[in-house]
Amino acid sequence: MRFIAGKPKGETQGQFHFEGELGALKDAARDNNFSGKEKELLVAYPGRPAHRVIAAGLGKKDRLTPEKVRRAAASMALRARALDLSELSILPPTGMAAEHAQAVVEGVALALYEYKQYKSKNPHPLKLSTVRVDGDPEAVRRGELYARATCLTRSLVNDPPSVCTPRYLADRARAVATRGIGIKVLDAAGAKRLGMGGLLGVALGSDEPPRFVHLSYRSPGARKSIAIVGKGITFDSGGLCIKPADGMLNMKDDMSGAGAVIGVFSALPDLKPRVNVHGIFAATENMPGGSAYKTRDVLRAMNGKTMEIINTDAEGRLILADALSYASGLKPDEIIDMATLTGACVVALGPDISALFTKSEKLQKGLLAAAQAQGEKLWPLPLEDDYLEMIRSDVADMKNSGGRYGGAITAALFLREFVSEGIAWAHLDIAGPALVESDKPYRPAGGTGVMVRTLLRYLEEQ
Ligand code: BES
Ligand code: MN
Ligand code: ZN
Repeated sequence: MRFIAGKPKGETQGQFHFEGELGALKDAARDNNFSGKEKELLVAYPGRPAHRVIAAGLGKKDRLTPEKVRRAAASMALRARALDLSELSILPPTGMAAEHAQAVVEGVALALYEYKQYKSKNPHPLKLSTVRVDGDPEAVRRGELYARATCLTRSLVNDPPSVCTPRYLADRARAVATRGIGIKVLDAAGAKRLGMGGLLGVALGSDEPPRFVHLSYRSPGARKSIAIVGKGITFDSGGLCIKPADGMLNMKDDMSGAGAVIGVFSALPDLKPRVNVHGIFAATENMPGGSAYKTRDVLRAMNGKTMEIINTDAEGRLILADALSYASGLKPDEIIDMATLTGACVVALGPDISALFTKSEKLQKGLLAAAQAQGEKLWPLPLEDDYLEMIRSDVADMKNSGGRYGGAITAALFLREFVSEGIAWAHLDIAGPALVESDKPYRPAGGTGVMVRTLLRYLEEQ
């Protein structure tokens, strides 16, 4: 599918045809009580064969937001697909900002995403090949890049877990390391040399070898460097503290943080933000094999701190301990990690909202603003120092579980132990929104690519 910035294509009489079609639309609106409220959608038949005119309600003009535009564009696109149209021209309301043109493209591209890899036949192939949006060409391009990056992450999450292994994730990271992006991949031996006891400990129960990946993007105009870090558990069985079947069902999504890192990097060479970016993830399965790590084992992370295992299902923080230590060693100005870290976060905020933990006002403001602009829901939770005692261990520096209460908070406090003093740090718990079970306007069921657009936006604002 191609996106083009430009006016609707009139056949012989240019805009004139379109004016005629708008007339037909006005009649249809009257006949169908279409008033332009949000979520309203109207299809009119202007009389020319194979032509349809679709109108989507956007609500009150002075309350228009990019998110309303994104959703309206998504429902238009889905209707255009249902009508088997091959071309779509979108005429945004007059005076629409570049922001809204980007939102139109995002809405269309994200709504039409399908994961068809394992369908042996496609009963209804997408005919839509050209989408024309009457708006700023830069904004159209940016919308396309944001959506493509998000869909790359979605597909990594949607891939079956025996396909999307740590080695596969590292290969997919290599594939985005083109045009000025550098990459370093460590295997188990390399991780051992650096003392990554968290990653190696979790990997013990699996036959799949772990990987540690470091992508780097440099901008000539950069005044700042940011490390983005992702949790890359390609399947979380829980390990020896094995999950019940229903809790394990969607645990192929436990690499969504790492997938988001790859998605973000796929767009950097085209977007060229003026900031240096490190992309880091640790990848392994969490399995209960014969050599698996056990409760009351003690692991030593790359920064030297020791971790007592209370529950082998609290594995994400163990591999992130190494990833955050490694990231700290690069001395970036900021570290932002993304992790499907806790069920407690899903209980607290539900399936649509990611949690934000940070003590940096600047990071908080910037990330909340970027998420808001991209229509991704992000909400702050506290890094409550008094809860540190919940993860105090008698034998090691801390234990890897603080129990049920405040589980998202104690997990975040645990991660903080691996970030060096003086580096601004934010942790995003994406356990809820990383994979959804039902369709939403521009987000079909399955992997969502959550936080890819927010992070791209944040990096572009530097
Ligand atoms: N990957 C899970 C968290 C998760 C749960 C993600 C539900 C998405 C949906 C994580 O590794 C985990 O198992 N966390 C445990 C921690 C507990 C043992 C301290 C949890 O949340 O139950
Ligand atoms: Mn787990
Ligand atoms: Zn996990």
